[in-house]
Amino acid sequence: MTNSPDNPGAGDTPPAASLVIDGKEIKLDVHRPTIGPDVVDVSKLYKETRHFTYDPGFTSTANCSSKITYIDGDKGVLLYRGYPIEQLAESSRFMEVCYLLLNGELPSSDEFADFDNTIRHHTMVHEQMNRFFTGFRRDAHPMAIMCGSVGALSAFYHDSTDITDPKQRVIASHRIISKMPTLAAMAYKYHVGQPFIYPRNDLDYSSNFLRMLFKVPTASYKVNQVLSRAMDRIFILHADHEQNASTSTVRLAGSSGANPFACVAAGIASLWGPSHGGANEAALKMLEEIGTVDRVPEYVARAKDKSDAYRLMGFGHRVYKNYDPRARVMQQTAHEVFDALGVRETPLLKVAMELERIALGDDYFIEKKLYPNIDFYSGITLRAMGIPTSMFTVLFAVARTVGWIAQWKEMMEDPEQKIGRPRQLYIGAPKRDYVPIGERS
Ligand code: CMC
Repeated sequence: MTNSPDNPGAGDTPPAASLVIDGKEIKLDVHRPTIGPDVVDVSKLYKETRHFTYDPGFTSTANCSSKITYIDGDKGVLLYRGYPIEQLAESSRFMEVCYLLLNGELPSSDEFADFDNTIRHHTMVHEQMNRFFTGFRRDAHPMAIMCGSVGALSAFYHDSTDITDPKQRVIASHRIISKMPTLAAMAYKYHVGQPFIYPRNDLDYSSNFLRMLFKVPTASYKVNQVLSRAMDRIFILHADHEQNASTSTVRLAGSSGANPFACVAAGIASLWGPSHGGANEAALKMLEEIGTVDRVPEYVARAKDKSDAYRLMGFGHRVYKNYDPRARVMQQTAHEVFDALGVRETPLLKVAMELERIALGDDYFIEKKLYPNIDFYSGITLRAMGIPTSMFTVLFAVARTVGWIAQWKEMMEDPEQKIGRPRQLYIGAPKRDYVPIGERS
């Protein structure tokens, strides 16, 4: 029996599992999670049977145990440390969610004040970083700059980061969460050729980020509180998502004992792809390419055509085969932002709403359970907020940093932790002898 969020601990002991190989029965341990499907333990399979398991894309494989995030893709449930994403997005702030993800519990007022103060006071990056940026081509994509600049942080904090010391792991976590908005804003400013804007410790995380993005030295900048709140909510929605591609990348990189800043840079690289975090940028570009409402059916038809590799960006999810709960909150946030800014009738929004309407009623999308995901709504919201398209995935990276680092910390503290080393199904040439070049036919 599978545990569910409303029925934890269902069934007393997990049913036994066994595998028959060459007529020999192998008994396999089964682990029971707090909630979710039982997990068959195949870790001793190779030792006992000389067989590997094969699971491209890890669709059925758990790589670790974790207490951080739970997803029920069939029911559309997402919990951070047990708390539903809808409640956190409605009532919490990103800083509180960061504390929760890192520490496992919601903070008391004093704990929150202390944490918030620490994050506000680590926002500056070394001045030498400014010069590091000038090595990039002047129009470099901000995600390319993020891969490089976050990786470069490891050079600034290498000797001072002893990952075997729990205190230093906490300091590294605080540093990376604090500095990500600064580096993200710098990546944007460099990309558009404007001077860097230094962080301000009197502003909250999201307001500080918006100011560093949009302020120019020649004019004053007042943070719009509706936009700041929307940004904060977008950060909450993207903060963690259990063992997705980028998080697994951070864990795998970290499993060798690598510097945590370098591990986060690896996560950023993985996030960039259009099947993952890059989908928000790809979704917006797709809406622009569609251009007008009358062209929506043509693009939906292409997405359904088996002979065409085209996909609707911002639709479908590996885990959510019901509605993406983040998408629901994001959709609501989108409408709040449109109302606050009075931007309901733009051609882009009209295309987005028509695409959503047609896809949600189309048999192909219904049968394959392809719903709009968070990236569909975040793209149009960020565009309405004046965030340039090239920065969409960077914002995702800023938000996901807390998830990456919380998962890295958890891995480092896991007594079962060992270097990640998948096996393979080798389908190459068998052993053969080298032939000198002159004797090859
Ligand atoms: N448009 C049209 N068809 C699709 C789409 C789509 N967006 N997504 C999946 N399908 C079809 C796919 O062709 C396949 O059809 P068939 O069974 O006939 O071969 C079926 O649905 C299952 O697709 P899959 O590729 O096996 O599913 P997956 O779990 O490997 O892929 C996905 C998940 C997110 C990569 C995929 O849905 C996709 O490429 N979506 C567009 C990109 C996107 O929006 N990504 C953001 C994900 S949410 C942010 C995050 O958490 O990273």
